[in-house]
Amino acid sequence: QRHLLGIEPLHPVEIAALLDRADHYAEATRRGEKHGDALEGLTQINMFFENSTRTQASFEIAGKRLGADVMNMAMQASSLKKGETLIDTALTLNAMRPDLLVVRHPHSGAVNLLAEKVNCAVLNAGDGRHEHPTQALLDALTIRRAKGRLHRLTVAICGDIAHSRVARSNLILLGKMENRVRLIGPPTLMPSGIGEFGVEVTDDMEEGLKGADVVMMLRLQKERMDGGFIPSEREYYHRFGLDAAKLANAKPDAIVMHPGPMNRGVEIDGTLADDINRSVIQEQVEMGVAVRMAAMDLLAQNLAKAG
Ligand code: CP
Repeated sequence: QRHLLGIEPLHPVEIAALLDRADHYAEATRRGEKHGDALEGLTQINMFFENSTRTQASFEIAGKRLGADVMNMAMQASSLKKGETLIDTALTLNAMRPDLLVVRHPHSGAVNLLAEKVNCAVLNAGDGRHEHPTQALLDALTIRRAKGRLHRLTVAICGDIAHSRVARSNLILLGKMENRVRLIGPPTLMPSGIGEFGVEVTDDMEEGLKGADVVMMLRLQKERMDGGFIPSEREYYHRFGLDAAKLANAKPDAIVMHPGPMNRGVEIDGTLADDINRSVIQEQVEMGVAVRMAAMDLLAQNLAKAG
């Protein structure tokens, strides 16, 4: 592959290979080892048209750990403010001959469009409600490390599914790796036609969490609700917020995940989020760096092969 735009085009063998490489980087980091220079001499530009803490920081750290020259474009201070379009901005940066472009954009499909216009490798850091492939990959690595496998697991994804690119990329990846995926949330936050993905859908937390190996909580994406129905946070927490009582319906060793940013007391109880016996939220963040190292390493190898 030249780009990493989504999980959709990836073969299970490619997913497993990327996770193996990321696991290697994660372990080497824990041992305090140097990582070599897979990206030495390469220029990585991070373009975030939407706010980010985890994804932007981890792409920057990942690039630097592998020796890339990393530049974070301050999009708020760019000429976009003077009316320059996304494509003209991309063409301008492309003329500076970067090797890797990491792009986050609020509109679904914007990153794919941009990838058609540039000569370098493009990594999707989240586009609208469409895909967030490196998030799904880091979630997959976290699950594989916690459960010892990434197949025949029951994974409950709970909350605002309709507006979530994280949910979309995860359910595609988990389906490809032959897991059972259950989506739990209010009908108003469930996208139409979601059954086509071969997932189970319910608005009952107790029923949906029964027998789950993994419980993945999602934030209410109010910024994407476009003036539509926004549930009351109190009522939402009562019905869909994860606490110890609701988690008791899942398997006793079920892990709790959240991609962040997290709203404590809205979709998850703060004490549960911090419970290191159940929550792997900080491990997800750690695996984010390893997965992004692996993704850029593999794309750089493909660039070198393509000449
Ligand atoms: N999970 C995630 O994408 O977090 P950020 O928005 O902080 O990058």
